[in-house]
Amino acid sequence: MWSSRSLSPLLTLFLLHSVVALVSARGSSRAKWKTLSGDAPLVIARGGFSGLFPDSSLAAYNLALITSLPNVISWCDVQLTKDSAGICLPDVKLDNATDIAAIYQNKSTAYLVNGVPNRGYFSVDYTIKDISQVALTQGIYSRTNKFDGNGFPIFTVGELNKQVNPPILWLNIQHDMFYSQHNLSMRKFVLSVIRKVPVKYISSPEVNFLKSIAARFNPNITKLVFRFMGQDDIEPTTNQTYGTIQKNLTFIKTFASGIMVPKSYIWPADPSSYLQPHTTLVSDAHEAGLEVFASDFTNDLPVSYNYSYDPLAEYLQFIDNGDFSVDGVLSDFPITPSEAVGCFAHLSANAAKTVNISVISKFGASGDYPPCTDMAYNKAISDGVDVLDCPVQLSKDGIPFCLSSIDLIESSTVAQSSFSRLATSIPEIKSGSGIFSFSLTSADIRRLTPSILNPYAKYTLYRNPKNKNEGHFLTLQDFLSLAKNQTSLSGVLITVEHAAYLAGKVGLNAIEVVLTALSKAGYDKQGALKVMIQSSDSSVLKEFKSKSKYELVYNILDDFSDAEKAAVEEIKGFANSVVLDKKSVFPENSAFLTGSTNIVPTLKASNLAVYVETFHNEFVSQAWDFFSDGTVEINSFVQGTTGIDGVITGFPKTADRYRKNRCLAAKTTPPYMQPVKPGDLLQLVTKDYLPPAEAPLPPLTESEVSEAPVPPISNSSAPAPSSGSSTSPPGSSQEKVNVCFFLSTFAVLVSLLLLL
Ligand SMILES: *[C@@H]1O[C@H](CO)[C@@H](O)[C@H](O)[C@H]1NC(C)=O
Ligand SMILES: *[C@@H]1O[C@H](CO)[C@@H](O)[C@H](O)[C@H]1NC(C)=O
Ligand SMILES: *[C@@H]1O[C@H](CO)[C@@H](O)[C@H](O)[C@H]1NC(C)=O
Ligand SMILES: *[C@@H]1O[C@H](CO)[C@@H](O)[C@H](O)[C@H]1NC(C)=O
Ligand SMILES: *[C@@H]1O[C@H](CO)[C@@H](O)[C@H](O)[C@H]1NC(C)=O
Ligand SMILES: *[C@@H]1O[C@H](CO)[C@@H](O)[C@H](O)[C@H]1NC(C)=O
Ligand SMILES: *[C@@H]1O[C@H](CO)[C@@H](O)[C@H](O)[C@H]1NC(C)=O
Ligand SMILES: *[C@@H]1O[C@H](CO)[C@@H](O)[C@H](O)[C@H]1NC(C)=O
Ligand SMILES: *[C@@H]1O[C@H](CO)[C@@H](O)[C@H](O)[C@H]1NC(C)=O
Ligand SMILES: *[C@@H]1O[C@H](CO)[C@@H](O)[C@H](O)[C@H]1NC(C)=O
Repeated sequence: MWSSRSLSPLLTLFLLHSVVALVSARGSSRAKWKTLSGDAPLVIARGGFSGLFPDSSLAAYNLALITSLPNVISWCDVQLTKDSAGICLPDVKLDNATDIAAIYQNKSTAYLVNGVPNRGYFSVDYTIKDISQVALTQGIYSRTNKFDGNGFPIFTVGELNKQVNPPILWLNIQHDMFYSQHNLSMRKFVLSVIRKVPVKYISSPEVNFLKSIAARFNPNITKLVFRFMGQDDIEPTTNQTYGTIQKNLTFIKTFASGIMVPKSYIWPADPSSYLQPHTTLVSDAHEAGLEVFASDFTNDLPVSYNYSYDPLAEYLQFIDNGDFSVDGVLSDFPITPSEAVGCFAHLSANAAKTVNISVISKFGASGDYPPCTDMAYNKAISDGVDVLDCPVQLSKDGIPFCLSSIDLIESSTVAQSSFSRLATSIPEIKSGSGIFSFSLTSADIRRLTPSILNPYAKYTLYRNPKNKNEGHFLTLQDFLSLAKNQTSLSGVLITVEHAAYLAGKVGLNAIEVVLTALSKAGYDKQGALKVMIQSSDSSVLKEFKSKSKYELVYNILDDFSDAEKAAVEEIKGFANSVVLDKKSVFPENSAFLTGSTNIVPTLKASNLAVYVETFHNEFVSQAWDFFSDGTVEINSFVQGTTGIDGVITGFPKTADRYRKNRCLAAKTTPPYMQPVKPGDLLQLVTKDYLPPAEAPLPPLTESEVSEAPVPPISNSSAPAPSSGSSTSPPGSSQEKVNVCFFLSTFAVLVSLLLLL
């Protein structure tokens, strides 16, 4: 059982620095906020930090207090028990967020809730004593259930106040009518609880409930907030839709000092999840003297494509858009709006960097556009990237292109074209079949339709569909001239892989081709952009070293805990820097960090620069420890290690904005900008929920960094099927073979979806 005595591990949790800084939210001048009061917007933690721990649990409420702005508000959804106790639970039914169905088996009942029939375990059927054995659990499937073994008890409002002592408490009375129908009075409960517990806000979606208590509250002490549900939902006490009620803000002002609206009331999205221009609701409500709180903020449920899966971007749009700021946000992940308010709002476009790391793109801004296209590169540049990357692949006629993979299927629609006949299997390159760049001529590659990467499709997280086939592929030469003109760039990163295969089996010399392109574009001249040559093959880097003076970057593909001395010495012989996978720095088990390794300090001590990859905005790419917040992840890698030199990311905007955050320039770092402590979260998983332990990572040894030399260039032609005419008409017999090929790919996708 989780008791108040076991609180201490939680209090020190997640924060490397034990001193929780009490930094004012007003990093910038007060006048900047376009809230009703002019003060910074408020952060309201729905059920505590319910994005991580079970909603309304001790752990959730405490984590919210530890990681958020000092004036974070603790939100409790009040339900009433049979004996009139007010408990904090997110829903009128207990089945969703507790283990009650396992404790009182087959005891569900059916009631009308606002006229709608519902079956489940209702609090009205249980006394407070009955539910003392019931524990809170995670009810949202996108979140981890690994904390469910802790036996978090259900709190009454009084217990919450006693055990958590939240500085500011918000009670949401979602149902009054339902409880009245069961002869229980919310009004009585509320009026009695405020005599014992300081309550700053009371919200409800029921007009008559708020009207019935309004006269009893001094808004200087307790504010009443009318909560809007969906525009077409019926408000049960007036039988009007919320959409209709919204039209008379003056009416609301007669019994409430503020409103809470789903965020779509302010920034509506069209049916395909693209944002439309904002409504005038916030300014209208401010004009009517009403504060506006926006609800439904999470980091893990897909929102509009306009935010590129970056939850911080969404908060900033609600609090710092030039026109207005909402007065508060209701969030399941209160650390993120705390960062938004405390560190990122009102940053000017040319704000100084407070962190000295390089931002290196992964296939350009491949989170937003098809990888390695002109669109992806231009977006990366406008998003503030320092180093633009080009993975070089060669066409059949030896022309170097920037392509994310040697297999064109991964980033283009080639498999749906007549070139699908060129599919072949080359186990030295990859398992399964592919359509390889060296099987197509440069003219054919230029004409390919790029397609956006969807690495998280199995979680149904798709990247911006409007951009899915935008842009065109560039030759290395096009890329070099595009980059050369950009004063904001500090360099380019050219990746060369499969050089041995290309030399020995295809007869193409990737190294020579790259060197020639670089010198032709003037990159070997003084004052040119820095060139970094990256490979996972040491022999490739050795060849570049013998023929050029470019920075050499060794990509260590596997995960290691450390590097043996001999291995480091060997690497220093052919590289200036290394790329590590995130998991080599902070190893993971079942998406929980298990600790940190020694590999970064070892490499740094030998004066090797260290870059870490790959950072993405999608929360499923991040360990739970980072709170589904890509900024927390980057910050933890930067502040929580001995100092990495750069991050490699498909979303350069997130990393570049991170570098400008004002909190790292402050004397004391606020908790929401402190690195997480790897391994702490796993300690809160009880034995029965622990994933099986994994073998510790091995250290990198010398033999692993000594690849065979690149073979001499053969003059045999590629083993790929001979390319026929590149212009075979659509609908030819070739096209039909294709259909089978596709169906099988589709089947794999479907089976992945079913695994969810
Ligand atoms: C619990 O409620 C949430 C939010 O309404 C919903 O997303 C989830 O699917 C529900 N879970 C269960 C087990 O009903
Ligand atoms: C609940 O119902 C199921 C199936 O109807 C039955 O197998 C089980 O024994 C019941 N459990 C209890 C505790 O009554
Ligand atoms: C509520 O009280 C009334 C009057 O005392 C009674 O008739 C009714 O059955 C009660 N309803 C419930 C759900 O207990
Ligand atoms: C609330 O505070 C304001 C400003 O201090 C004051 O003018 C007003 O009378 C107060 N209202 C009530 C109902 O106490
Ligand atoms: C709302 O509608 C319901 C069902 O149509 C009715 O029973 C109820 O009296 C109405 N309430 C009000 C306030 O009009
Ligand atoms: C809006 O509400 C106010 C206050 O209740 C009322 O006086 C006014 O007539 C209402 N306006 C409309 C258009 O219904
Ligand atoms: C959202 O993205 C779409 C598509 O790119 C664009 O048309 C729209 O203007 C964007 N909305 C906002 C509010 O920026
Ligand atoms: C930032 O780091 C680079 C290389 O890591 C170094 O050359 C530069 O001096 C640093 N700048 C500052 C302001 O620390
Ligand atoms: C480079 O920049 C100059 C001046 O900004 C512009 O005129 C020229 O077209 C650019 N060249 C390329 C290849 O983008
Ligand atoms: C190709 O290789 C063969 C034998 O391996 C050799 O005789 C021939 O001269 C080579 N041709 C070229 C153009 O290098």
